[in-house]
Amino acid sequence: MRLTYTSDLWYKNAVIYCLDVETYKDGNGDGVGDFRGLTQQIDYLHSLGITCLWLMPFFPTPNKDDGYDITDFYSIDPRLGTLGDFVEFMRTAKDRGIRVIADLVVNHTSDQHPWFKESRSSKDSPLRDWYVWSDKPEPDDPSQIVFPDKENSIWQLDKKTGQYYLHSFYRHQPDLNVANPEVRDEIARVLGFWMELGLSGFRVDAVPFLIENVGDKLPDPHAFLADLRAFMSRREGGAVLLGEVNMPYKDLVGYFGDGNGDQLTMCFDFIGMQHAWLAFARSEAGPINQALGDRPKPPKDCQWATFLRNHDELTLDKLTDEERQEVFDAFGPDKDMQIYGRGLRRRLPSMFGGDLRRIKMAYSLLFSMPGTPVIFYGEEIGMGDNLDEEGRMAVRTPMQWSQSGGFSDAPPVRGIPGGSFAPERVNVADQKRDPDSLLRWFQLLIERYRECPELAWGDNTVLDTGHPSVFAHRCDADGATVVAVHNLCDTATEIDLALEGLDGSVLTDLLADETMEVADGTVRLPMSPHGCRWLRAAPRGDMPPEDASIIAH
Ligand code: GLC
Repeated sequence: MRLTYTSDLWYKNAVIYCLDVETYKDGNGDGVGDFRGLTQQIDYLHSLGITCLWLMPFFPTPNKDDGYDITDFYSIDPRLGTLGDFVEFMRTAKDRGIRVIADLVVNHTSDQHPWFKESRSSKDSPLRDWYVWSDKPEPDDPSQIVFPDKENSIWQLDKKTGQYYLHSFYRHQPDLNVANPEVRDEIARVLGFWMELGLSGFRVDAVPFLIENVGDKLPDPHAFLADLRAFMSRREGGAVLLGEVNMPYKDLVGYFGDGNGDQLTMCFDFIGMQHAWLAFARSEAGPINQALGDRPKPPKDCQWATFLRNHDELTLDKLTDEERQEVFDAFGPDKDMQIYGRGLRRRLPSMFGGDLRRIKMAYSLLFSMPGTPVIFYGEEIGMGDNLDEEGRMAVRTPMQWSQSGGFSDAPPVRGIPGGSFAPERVNVADQKRDPDSLLRWFQLLIERYRECPELAWGDNTVLDTGHPSVFAHRCDADGATVVAVHNLCDTATEIDLALEGLDGSVLTDLLADETMEVADGTVRLPMSPHGCRWLRAAPRGDMPPEDASIIAH
């Protein structure tokens, strides 16, 4: 397919890397990561091959929810640096061809935000309506409580005025009222501000909460998302909204914008992620087949964002109770590994007991899945978790740069994992020198993923492998085909794969030095334990004609 398509719609086959400035690299020796430290690591990220950085919140905050509680949308948390440091960082990232997006957390503010302080000061405050107040809220529905370990209601009585305010998350995070046009304007201003400083878009936090807490006060909440997207696109055509929408597929597609894709540019595939974990727990391909089969095609120019882990708990809320229990039994049997009754607070390598073959297979699967892969810092070196840290912080420990840690000279902001995941064993410096390391594997996967835009752009079809543990799919675009095959179990096997329309083609394994031929429409593939293959079929016919329309894509 024509590579020029992939520069306009860059996000459709981007490689997105999420990090928290606070835990990435300390540049001034105070134990807290900062923009100066991060800027020094840009060449590392460049050599890894990532194309877009997603920065977790870096704004002033009382830090009661790791920065997702903001007191000023227009500046930088002083612990992380200054606006000047931010601009220097942006300039350096841009120079290395790396785009940057940031968390947009506008469902709520911190209760310490001047807007909320003003709003709660009196019922007559000019900002009273910027938040959601009620004399007598509806009784709580327990399923609405996101953090059941800390909260038992989404309403909090504010004694001074005798009214309750809505907080979808913690009580110190009052929800903004997007039914108020002034609030919607202010949110657009926030987008405009950071785009002016070079951001290529936003990861939009908690989207369903953002637009659905307004009841009937906003006749069409989705129109607000479409307005926001239109505003952003007017300012910068290539900017994206990547939404956190953990919903069943049928409810989720509306967030792309029904039919025409004029709302969120990308949505995380939470359902696919949860089914991948069920597949890992069973060592069977079935759940992945099912999720991919159920997953709707996003509207034109929209894209799925695929992932295995993120900064939050590994939520398993969309599995049945029995399925969730299977994943708990396999990957987090101890109560201390579980959280909120629905998830796990561990990283992938510790859940896989450090089994490098299995870890490599899981990430090969991720990168081969149709969509845009999003990775969380440290995944590329197989960092583990630190269960001594509170709740979700177990997976947000400092980046491990060298045997001595290398994050900071001072005691770090958060405790570093010990045992087999300690920096002595898991770090960037060692893995750079080891050709068989996970870091090298990630570099290879990213290079191949970028060379195969068909994976992200093409039409995908799940293939029958005749083996319950082997998952195979093909992606076709403009006459080019890539086939990916993954063995989810730890025993070797052999499969016969029927490849329609590829009879006589030569398949080149892009992850190994091997080629094979498709004879009688079939290829026989030996699969090693947790083996993976990405097979490119030799091009048949001509390249797409040069006069193919650019605007068609
Ligand atoms: C999102 C974030 C999570 C945060 C919550 C409240 O779910 O991913 O980390 O705690 O929103 O902002």
